[in-house]
Amino acid sequence: MAKREHWGSRIGFILAAAGSAIGLGNIWKFPYIAGQNGGAAFVVVYLGCIVGIGFPLMLAEFAIGRKTQKDPLGAFRNLRPQGRWFLVGGLGILASFLIFSYYSVVAGWTLGYIYKAASGVFSNFAVPEEAGVHFASFVSNPWWAISCHAAFMSLCMVIVIGGIKAGIERWSKILMPILFLILVGLVLRGITLEGSMRGVQFFLKADFTQLNWTSVLTALGHAFFTLSLAMGIMITYGSYLSKEDNLVSSAFMVVFLDTLIALMAGLAIFSSIFAMGLDPAAGPGLTFHILPAVFQRMPAGILFGTMFFLLLAIAALTSGISLLEVVVTFFIDEKGWSRRKAVLSLGSAVFILGILTALSFGVLENVKIFGWRNFFEGLDFICANLLLPIGALLTAIFVGWVWGMRPAIQEVRSGNPRFLFAPLWSFLIRFVSPVAVAIIIVAKLMGKAF
Ligand code: PHE
Repeated sequence: MAKREHWGSRIGFILAAAGSAIGLGNIWKFPYIAGQNGGAAFVVVYLGCIVGIGFPLMLAEFAIGRKTQKDPLGAFRNLRPQGRWFLVGGLGILASFLIFSYYSVVAGWTLGYIYKAASGVFSNFAVPEEAGVHFASFVSNPWWAISCHAAFMSLCMVIVIGGIKAGIERWSKILMPILFLILVGLVLRGITLEGSMRGVQFFLKADFTQLNWTSVLTALGHAFFTLSLAMGIMITYGSYLSKEDNLVSSAFMVVFLDTLIALMAGLAIFSSIFAMGLDPAAGPGLTFHILPAVFQRMPAGILFGTMFFLLLAIAALTSGISLLEVVVTFFIDEKGWSRRKAVLSLGSAVFILGILTALSFGVLENVKIFGWRNFFEGLDFICANLLLPIGALLTAIFVGWVWGMRPAIQEVRSGNPRFLFAPLWSFLIRFVSPVAVAIIIVAKLMGKAF
């Protein structure tokens, strides 16, 4: 068998993993959930979840991947050949496959909106309602929805076909600095607008009265999603690491960059929204309903609007490739397929499945699976509320109790012989993470969170 490819540099790996973590969750979701849950008070809770649960789990996934040098299913089987633990890896691969099918549709909208922003369509929107109507007609148009989805999927396939070094690493090294520069530009634009300081205050001033148990669950759930955990991604990316790499400092950098970008996105968005006198608590529609109206009112809005949607598209692209890579690595490692064959056939399969989501906002809107939810809502519910938390719970239990902390710590020590906080890590993985995730699962099943 051919020798396994490895990342060409530490920074390349960090940027690729950060690229996966930084996605629509940071720029589209984090600002609006922070806006709805008391601004800075929510941010404090969220940071606690990231540090206490997200970071330890990311380190655990890196350790599983690097130890076994295998796709997620092979990795679990390799560490525990008896029993059915390999299914946990399989669950992550399945989640990646399913999530990619609808992530690509939403990411496709951002491509469509780059075009709309650049061609000045936003100048027609005097009020957010008009932007909302325009958005609804855009996503319900099958031609637009499917062609944007196809365009996004093709970009992901072109990058992943290049492999780890020449594809994912190379493009992450190009795209992530661009993403950062655009965001710096948008933050500067936002905070220099007249009246923006009220937005900055809103985002940075802690209002603990808005915080309740649901906010805590939201923060915890978002911590997994934003760090791309429980989907086999960090196991897969970790499997291309070599034994000399320092897992702790890499995980730290990824978590740090992810948080930094989310905070910067919040700052850019809230300063602009307040300066333009629009509604900060608009919820999920914030990006596509409110922001076009913000850009319409802002000086040089065409330029900044285009930059904003380009930012979203880049963030989505580096996340999309990580989802595809999980599934591709599985078929390469387990079925012996060539990378080319895996990318072409799996990309096409995910594309076809995604068509059902693309049509869920138009012709298929009222087609309910089992009379329950439409295709997109059903898929999102199953993945976000069941597959991901269950995957995270089983991963923590596996590392903490089945594979065991001793070999896990030994793996982390390769490349980082000191690893002073090994006992703390062990405590967090064995006790804190499983309990916290179990609480989320129960709460979600009872319909409390989100
Ligand atoms: N972490 C990404 C984000 O914040 C989301 C994502 C989830 C990416 C799953 C890949 C896989 O948007």
